[in-house]
Amino acid sequence: MPILSFKNIKKSYGDFQALKNVDFSIEKGEFVSLLGSNGAGKTTLINCLAGILTQTEGEIIVEGKNTIDNSSETKQLLGIVDQEVSFDPFFTPLETLEMMQGFFGIPPTKENNEYIHWLLEKLSLADKKNAKSNTLSGGMKRRLMIAKALIHKPKILVLDEPTAGVDIELRKNLWIFMRELQKKYNTTILLTTHYLEEAEEMSDKIAILHNGEIIVYKETQELLKNNKRTLFLTFQSGETKKFMIENDSDIMKNIIAEEKKSEHTICNIQIKEPKLEDVFWEFTK
Ligand SMILES: Nc1ncnc2c1ncn2[C@@H]1O[C@H](COP(=O)(O)OP(=O)(O)OP(=O)(O)O)[C@@H](O)[C@H]1O
Ligand SMILES: [Mg+2]
Repeated sequence: MPILSFKNIKKSYGDFQALKNVDFSIEKGEFVSLLGSNGAGKTTLINCLAGILTQTEGEIIVEGKNTIDNSSETKQLLGIVDQEVSFDPFFTPLETLEMMQGFFGIPPTKENNEYIHWLLEKLSLADKKNAKSNTLSGGMKRRLMIAKALIHKPKILVLDEPTAGVDIELRKNLWIFMRELQKKYNTTILLTTHYLEEAEEMSDKIAILHNGEIIVYKETQELLKNNKRTLFLTFQSGETKKFMIENDSDIMKNIIAEEKKSEHTICNIQIKEPKLEDVFWEFTK
């Protein structure tokens, strides 16, 4: 049984249909990236899952339970990191996390306190744990949002553009931490991001949302396999020509044909592997 299913979700804002029949499922422990241009409907879908919005039609099932009729049970299973940063600016990260534990009825035992410190450590906030949250930088605030979402050890972590405004090193640390969460707790992760390289590296599956519809939902490797490699030949004149490669024999064929045709010799040969970015453009152009 999938841990999370979106079943024919439609969402309208007045006359405008932001989501049209979104239907896909995620298995336990999977890492799925939901990609889409600005305005594609990603946040709308996540807000329906979080219960911030109610879908116009369809249902969302978390561990066999529908989110509308079983809202408090399904919320225990979900940790949602919103796209917008929001928390009380006058509490420190430590106080914020202790308070969140209280909201979830988690007692302040030694083990639970250690978990808070582990989160602060893993999200590179340990040295800022006693600073007022309004004095944190943008990237630090985002990381505090992630710690907050993880306070009750949710089975499903949903991240809506968690790395926007986070520097390269901390982004890398965040992905290492996500892998650790998957290993330690078998956490299922649903991510939205505009950094396609990160999505390609991290995800088991990719969903592409386009104008409110899921136009692709596939395993990452499967998706990349269908795209062709590109051969670049640079001539001594400085000119570069580009060829799509269907199979390996095309490489030599193109090189020989071009050597014969051109009065200049080839001085550089490059083969570019298909990238998620190419696939994304292909589907959404
Ligand atoms: N409260 C609202 N009222 C009316 N239209 C809305 C509302 N919220 C979102 N929309 C519209 O719904 C569409 C989807 O918006 P959404 O925020 O879900 O996109 P997104 O994929 O998250 O985009 P981004 O990558 O910019 O975060 C957009 O056209 C947006 O203008
Ligand atoms: Mg969004």
